[in-house]
Amino acid sequence: MSREIPPTECCVTIAGTGSYVPEKVLSNADLERMVDTSDEWITSRTGIKERRLAADGQATSDLATAAAKRAMEDAGVSAEELDLIIVATISPDAFFPATACYVQKNIGATNAMCFDISAACSGFLYAIQVARHFINTGNRRTALVIGAEKLSSMVDWEDRNTCVLFGDGAGAAVLRRDDSGDAGRKVISASLGSDGRMTDILHVPGGGSAMPITHDNADQKLNTIRMQGREVYKNAVNAMRRAAEDALQRGGLTAADVDMLIPHQANKRIIEAIGERMGIPAEKTFINLDKYGNTSAAAVAIALDEANKTGAIKDGDNVVLVAFGAGLTWASTLVKW
Ligand code: ACO
Repeated sequence: MSREIPPTECCVTIAGTGSYVPEKVLSNADLERMVDTSDEWITSRTGIKERRLAADGQATSDLATAAAKRAMEDAGVSAEELDLIIVATISPDAFFPATACYVQKNIGATNAMCFDISAACSGFLYAIQVARHFINTGNRRTALVIGAEKLSSMVDWEDRNTCVLFGDGAGAAVLRRDDSGDAGRKVISASLGSDGRMTDILHVPGGGSAMPITHDNADQKLNTIRMQGREVYKNAVNAMRRAAEDALQRGGLTAADVDMLIPHQANKRIIEAIGERMGIPAEKTFINLDKYGNTSAAAVAIALDEANKTGAIKDGDNVVLVAFGAGLTWASTLVKW
């Protein structure tokens, strides 16, 4: 479990949220024509009905930029006011420069310091916590935190074990310092952790420094996502439950106080198992994976924006965000909305 030292308290608020998903829809029926699968298998095992795919020429930074603009509009924040941009992604535009720098260029945020975070599906919540620390120390005041992925660029479209699961999209939040102390949407507490002993159960083996890409390993598709689904599943339920309970405890609450649980959108059965074990009913659990599949670092960010814009979360609600991903990594954030 994490050893988070509570940051010295100022008030870090989520001033606005935004999200963007590409127009192109890939349905389960479309996948039935591509690999040996069925709508029935995908729906019963995962809950996913369709996912979005980025257009040719649309990079992760383009998805991130669209989500960022919507979050800035929602927060009423100008590009000049941003002094920190963090993009959480495992599908960056390139090894370098950081995707956050492309976003900076696209929105004209000339005063911002920019970098990326790689924590897979937990990345958005890792980025929120990093931004929170920057704001709490007084080092930065207004941060744009984005989870964005173009996972379609790293999926083996002939592997039915993985290609049915993933999609493209982006979600963003503007975090601001509020010294009045009475602002809503306050980030209360967090719990984060990792277990590097299980790097091999979910990874892209090729294309990095350990296995530079060659014609040979590209032919073997070693630059695509490999996953031991059952191992990931087993670890996901326990790690997310522990992280969520730890974040709640640090905020002085219990699962009974939760008004909305917004979990990583990988698998409906995983989400239901967490809800059951924590005693949180289905109506207090936000699910949109049927529309988008697993968008890794973007998933919680998109779900938070949809929950916000549709009124699923209301002023004063105790909102728990929780995620789990490759690494392994896990994270949970408690927000008083
Ligand atoms: N269509 C039809 N059959 C399939 C498909 C498919 N798309 N994919 C696999 N199968 C078959 C398998 O080949 C296997 O057949 P076999 O028994 O003849 O060998 C059978 O279905 C059962 O496969 P399992 O792996 O046992 O199925 P399971 O019930 O575990 O579901 C799944 C698989 C959905 C991947 C599940 O394990 C899961 O959700 N795991 C967690 C994924 C996750 O949470 N990822 C989060 C992190 S993602 C990130 O960090 C980027």
